[in-house]
Amino acid sequence: MFNIDFLEEAKLIRDEIINNRRYFHEYPEVGFEEFNTSKKIVEFLNSLGIENKVVCGTGIVALIKGNGDGPVIALRSDLDALPLEDRKNVEYASKIKGKMHACGHDGHMSILMGAAKILNKHKDEFKGTVKLIFEPAEETVGGAKFMIEEGVLQNPKVDAIVGLHVSELLDSGTIGLKYGVVNAASNPFKIIVKGRGGHGAHPEDCVDPIVAACNMVTSLQTIVSREISPHNPSVITIGQFLGGTAPNIIPEEVVLEGVIRTITKEDRKYAINRLKEICEGIALAMRVKVEIEIVDGYPCLYNNDKMVSFGEEVFKKVLGKDNVIMDICPSMGVESFAYFSEAVPSLFYFLGTRNILKGIVHPAHGSLFDLDEEGLIFGAALQSAIAFNYLNSN
Ligand code: NI
Repeated sequence: MFNIDFLEEAKLIRDEIINNRRYFHEYPEVGFEEFNTSKKIVEFLNSLGIENKVVCGTGIVALIKGNGDGPVIALRSDLDALPLEDRKNVEYASKIKGKMHACGHDGHMSILMGAAKILNKHKDEFKGTVKLIFEPAEETVGGAKFMIEEGVLQNPKVDAIVGLHVSELLDSGTIGLKYGVVNAASNPFKIIVKGRGGHGAHPEDCVDPIVAACNMVTSLQTIVSREISPHNPSVITIGQFLGGTAPNIIPEEVVLEGVIRTITKEDRKYAINRLKEICEGIALAMRVKVEIEIVDGYPCLYNNDKMVSFGEEVFKKVLGKDNVIMDICPSMGVESFAYFSEAVPSLFYFLGTRNILKGIVHPAHGSLFDLDEEGLIFGAALQSAIAFNYLNSN
């Protein structure tokens, strides 16, 4: 195990980590528009002499080479903000109307910059390479997928990758990690139900797509409640039900839109097939026509067992064993880090940034979301510690 006190190292650059986070928080940019954000990070890397290049428009990949040949570990942060109004009453609130870092990616960037600074300072003390990956558009199309296609996991080839996400469910100074699945897979879908419109008083002359669509909404819930094992969480949500123009008109069609979330590849495939079968079966029974589009969204995010046990050991040394919470629940939310986790052995964990005394408790993707910035100091310590230790033990 390492003999550097990474927490002390992170505390030395505490103000810088917080100032970087506040800068990003004040000037949020959404997916693939992170030009100013990206420029700021490139300037920072250049100031430290860390070689870097811009990929996929606003993404960045950078290398910190150690003292001699060895493995390559990647550390990843996302870059993008959300289209949301910041309603916090703090001096560092968003200055850009209708945009806000409401998922903590501002914190992720400042953590990775902090970890880069610590690792760069100690680069003579490890072998191999740290690859820094700053990913655009995590919230929208999954920048990771495009970065992988652009070859960010090659030259040099990445042997392992580590990422984190801030969490309002965990107090600052604690983290949560788990073996196996961490985040669900997503399949957004659209169902178009076509009937025959007409007068609401004469249903016998029509084929009512509203009644058929209602049957589909209800029956689709039985995939989760009656068919997939209750030991594997899964969700089918229909968030949009559009149809009709007046109380006394039976419309021509109804459009349903929703999302499937599952945590195993098998359940994912099963739910997709059954959604089609159920809707087509109801369409036949109720004389409507149905068109179904199912999009392949983010895959499941799986942690590698060896990386989890390695991370647990390192993190307990940095934080103390009581502050590392094992076996948290998987999230039914998605995370584009999943594309990296499909490609190389990976570890993804949750960093506590809740502080009840400071009132920092609001959920992500909400307009009052904030981070306890003290949690970010731990984040920089943990990310630098795991990279350093991985390179010195492999
Ligand atoms: Ni996020």
